[in-house]
Amino acid sequence: MKNILIGVTGGIAAYKSANIISLLRKKGFNVKVIMTKSATNIITPQTLETLSKNRVVVDMWERGFQIDVEHISLADWADIILIAPATYNIVGKIANGIADDMLSTVIAAAYNKAKIVFALAMNTNMYENPILKLNIKKLKELNYDFIEADEGILACCDSGKGRLKNEEEIIQILESSYIKPETKNNFLLGKKLLITAGRTEESLDPIRYFSNHSSGKMGYSLAEAAANLGAEVYLISGPSNLIIPKNIKKFISVKSAQEMYNEVFKIYDNIDIGIACAAVADYRPKIVYEQKIKKDSDELNITLIKNPDILLKMGELKKKQILIGFAAETENLIENALKKLKKKNLDYIVANHASAMTKNNNTATIINKNNIQTNFNDISKNELAYHILNVLKGRI
Ligand code: C5P
Repeated sequence: MKNILIGVTGGIAAYKSANIISLLRKKGFNVKVIMTKSATNIITPQTLETLSKNRVVVDMWERGFQIDVEHISLADWADIILIAPATYNIVGKIANGIADDMLSTVIAAAYNKAKIVFALAMNTNMYENPILKLNIKKLKELNYDFIEADEGILACCDSGKGRLKNEEEIIQILESSYIKPETKNNFLLGKKLLITAGRTEESLDPIRYFSNHSSGKMGYSLAEAAANLGAEVYLISGPSNLIIPKNIKKFISVKSAQEMYNEVFKIYDNIDIGIACAAVADYRPKIVYEQKIKKDSDELNITLIKNPDILLKMGELKKKQILIGFAAETENLIENALKKLKKKNLDYIVANHASAMTKNNNTATIINKNNIQTNFNDISKNELAYHILNVLKGRI
């Protein structure tokens, strides 16, 4: 899905459509824009034309182009139609079958062809009006989607629900709900990407070790996906039964956290992107016995000492690198993930429940430094890998 048609209506938030268009363009989407006449009082078509790199359509009866087919061809062209901001008026018109300008006509013609999403923004009283609620209910039943407005101080100085959702958040919602991640694009070409994956094993004696259930699937999926997207991939992996992805630059096999640490920092200065997916043991036995420990006593006390935190160090030494970490938790998932994002100086963190460790699918939230959260519900680790890497589009 590459073609996004933005409908801009005449709410004061119309100026924010400029940012939405420019963010979408940076991410590689084709963007076309239709404005209502009242939207042109708030932001000029020229501005949105420059940002979208396409002619902005306002009037059905504009001379000099083919009026008879324009609404059909735009409706055919779009994979997604995002109306942002969507006023009380446009929702009312679409819910009641009115098509009296270019935007409402295209929306009508696109029914069942494009995904149509309204990002609501209006005065609080209008937002609370039961007529709007009835219109939304009717449209939802007909498969139209809505991005709720946020609370805050509105342009009219009222305070309450009605502010257009943050532009970045709107795009995250589009990406996680309607857009399949890019799998055939070379946007990571020339970028060196380091991934840590799998579990570590911390020896106790010649035959025993401490470890965890991590399969390595998420990290290996990321390695393969990143290589498909053009990156030069260095995969540093603890023990795993998985097949090493063929298209990566280098596979480095390690056992313990300390070995993983050493390998990471041999190459860290030269890499552009670091993804720490490994389930690294936080502690290791203080003493590694040379001979097998005998079961002579009823109790056995083993002292553990802390392992180095590889990602924490990567964050401390960070220069040009973009860093993505993982947080596998059993409780307070988002709260703990946010703490780690900050503490380890990361650009993104992927929060997932620890129970996903051994599975093929994952339910996860990607969170950026501004706490913009994108949720993915029960998708394959392979697809999630592309979604994670796709956040880098337009950033590198
Ligand atoms: O602090 P916590 O272990 O929960 O943080 C998880 C993140 O930190 C993961 O990205 C993991 O790969 C990384 N990590 C690390 N070295 C450690 C522990 C965790 O790189 N010793």
